[in-house]
Amino acid sequence: MEQAIDWKNLGFEYMDTGSHVRAEFKDGQWTRPQLVKGNQLNLHIASTCLHYGQACFEGVKVFQRVDGTVACFRAPTHADRFASSAARLCMTAPPSELFIEAVATLVRANRSYIPPYGTGASFYVRPLLIGSSPIIGVHESHEYIFIVLGLPVGPYYKNGLVPVRGLVQEQYDRAAPNGVGHVKAAGNYAAGMLGDKEARARNFDISLYLDSATHTFVDEFTTSNFIGITRDRRFVTPDSKSVLPSVTNNCLQQIAADMGFTIERRPVRWDEIGNFSEIGACGTAAVITPLYSLTRGSETLTFGDPKTPGPVLSSLYAEIQAIQYGTKPDRWGWIHPLST
Ligand SMILES: Cc1ncc(COP(=O)(O)O)c(C=O)c1O
Repeated sequence: MEQAIDWKNLGFEYMDTGSHVRAEFKDGQWTRPQLVKGNQLNLHIASTCLHYGQACFEGVKVFQRVDGTVACFRAPTHADRFASSAARLCMTAPPSELFIEAVATLVRANRSYIPPYGTGASFYVRPLLIGSSPIIGVHESHEYIFIVLGLPVGPYYKNGLVPVRGLVQEQYDRAAPNGVGHVKAAGNYAAGMLGDKEARARNFDISLYLDSATHTFVDEFTTSNFIGITRDRRFVTPDSKSVLPSVTNNCLQQIAADMGFTIERRPVRWDEIGNFSEIGACGTAAVITPLYSLTRGSETLTFGDPKTPGPVLSSLYAEIQAIQYGTKPDRWGWIHPLST
């Protein structure tokens, strides 16, 4: 039963839309994606996803745009990253066309859950891949289930583009140097939950991880990349093999370059953080989260005004949102129209 949705007050919380899309890999081939009613899955108790974490996912956004059309943001890029996550976890990914067809099928079936233009909300799509063969030795599955679910969301942080307080995690690392930090492995997020919970208990909004080997360089936040802006118009972001290649970060780099910023993708030392005039976290869910402060042990660095986001991050945010919602032209071919 569909409820009346208060679009303007949506948070980033699960909502049941009554259906999802599913495809299965069996006997060496993928089935066509099918719309499935309900939200339950029947899974073998010895599935590799349950015991050995053979699971990866994506986070994709779909927008109703100013002209009334519905479009998915950078669908092929997300499909490619999904495939690289799967490959690192020894899983069989759906081909890119199947990934995009599944998203399109979900959106068609969930038309009434796509937030109208002007509400500031969007439709968040969560593709998930799990190993489903019953295998009790540590080996890869030969059967996979690909699920795509979606739900309307508002801003990830309730107050929108308002600066937050960050904590550098000293006690826990996110990703081993040659591990799986560069892919969207489900287990990466379980590994970050304790640190995040402890940070929240101390009134921090977001956790930043340094490189696991030396704690000298900045890696990324639990669910977003690090970006720093300098007064002399440089856009700086860590180049690290333990960081997820963020689609949002890639977009922001192109937008910033277009605005005349010099883009620097390089190792970013912790001890240069104080040189940035603005720092932020970026990712699909929140787009950009400016940080007002960053605490490491007894040291706290602050950036700008605690209540107002800095001018550069504000304009990058406005620009990417304008492209997503169609009030500015799609200069780089990021918009993937969907029929509804
Ligand atoms: C660990 C991590 N880093 C960065 C990001 C941001 O990536 P994207 O901009 O593709 O959403 C995410 C979210 O997907 C993430 O989970």
